[in-house]
Amino acid sequence: MLSQATKDIITSTVPVLEIYGERITTRFYERLFQNEPSMLDIFNQTNQRKGQQQTALAQAVYAAALHIEHIEDILPVVKQIGHKHRGLGVTPEHYPIIGENLLGAMKEVLGDGATDEIIGAWAQAYGVIADAFIGVEQDMYAQVATQTGGWEGFRPFIVVKKVQESDVITSFYIEPEDGGTVAVYEPGQYLTLKIDIPGLAHTQRRQYSLSDEPGKPYYRISVKREDAHDGWPEGIVSTYLHHHVQVGDTLHVAAPAGDFTLDVTTHHPIVFLSGGVGMTPLLSMVHSLLTYDPQHEVTYVHAAIHGGVHAFQTEMEELAIAHPSLQYYIVYEKPHEEDKQRAHFAQAGYIDLALLDARVPRDAEFYVCGPKPFMKSMVTSLQQLNVSSDHIHYEFFGPQGSLE
Ligand code: HEM
Repeated sequence: MLSQATKDIITSTVPVLEIYGERITTRFYERLFQNEPSMLDIFNQTNQRKGQQQTALAQAVYAAALHIEHIEDILPVVKQIGHKHRGLGVTPEHYPIIGENLLGAMKEVLGDGATDEIIGAWAQAYGVIADAFIGVEQDMYAQVATQTGGWEGFRPFIVVKKVQESDVITSFYIEPEDGGTVAVYEPGQYLTLKIDIPGLAHTQRRQYSLSDEPGKPYYRISVKREDAHDGWPEGIVSTYLHHHVQVGDTLHVAAPAGDFTLDVTTHHPIVFLSGGVGMTPLLSMVHSLLTYDPQHEVTYVHAAIHGGVHAFQTEMEELAIAHPSLQYYIVYEKPHEEDKQRAHFAQAGYIDLALLDARVPRDAEFYVCGPKPFMKSMVTSLQQLNVSSDHIHYEFFGPQGSLE
């Protein structure tokens, strides 16, 4: 238990830390990788370069500290991050390493402002937050290790099929090398890949959504090739998977994780809104829902730039033919002439308020996935249509952040 004095210090210093937040966490990562180079095998260096991870961790630590008296109030967030950590292989021994380097960075950036009292209070608070994460993650490790077809750590899988789904998205079908079964996952979950790329000093870990429905003897992940753009380098793992990983190759995979999932037993109509590769978890959900209840009322609206980069067109068209209760619409930002002739083409431009107003039932549960500007626009439009926020479920691609 933290004393009242400690809690008061935490509450009064959060605003100061927020001001220096990014400087502290940037310095934290520099120290971390210098003191513990093995951490370079765990953290995604591309996210580091984009500064996204710095912000995500800073926000999470300060947000948790503000709830220090009732840490249970933020359990949903702890669980969401816990899924990510569990997939990546974060273990209790890692927490003190993160804590020491974070406190060291605080001291360094705040200088004389960081009295022993303040650093002592934050050390205690970090301990409480870390314990909450460790507890949640230990339960998750136990659950995946004991479930049928589940496993601990990273298990070798063979690529049995590789399918190009669009100009930029390719699916990999993988089966366990040991010939065993695979754990049934919840639609919307993702896999973590641990991959050693020749010429790179550090192991890479990346998470990709499972795009098929659960219950098959294989897993399917669908990966967007991240080409270099606007000064950002190409995605090292996605381009390696696209160009070098072939049928017969081995991938090391952690058991499915993630809490952006669909309960297929729902009685509500379901609306799926996806942008680009954000389609992958929603595709797993729509398949699962219609397998469970072939007549379920479903609306699916997908946004892509044009037909060339629109994956799974045939798969979705077949699903719509097989299930008249599925209303399927495509919106292309910059359609080619032939794209406008496609079945289900609704309009050029974006998924806008008018389209949602005309096509989606209000009493639905909404599942939204895509890049941040897409999500922001969808959530804002749904709010304007008076959809209550507890009916809107969304997941970002890349590190979580706020919609602001
Ligand atoms: C991701 C918070 C401890 C490794 C994240 C994210 C948050 C977070 C908010 C982003 C989640 C998302 O994008 O959905 C925290 C907090 C911690 C903590 C508050 C301490 C209480 C750790 C530890 C490790 C770790 C001990 C182990 C080395 C990672 C990694 C990612 C991640 C590798 C993925 C992001 C990337 O590679 O860019 N964490 N974390 N975290 N965390 Fe933690």
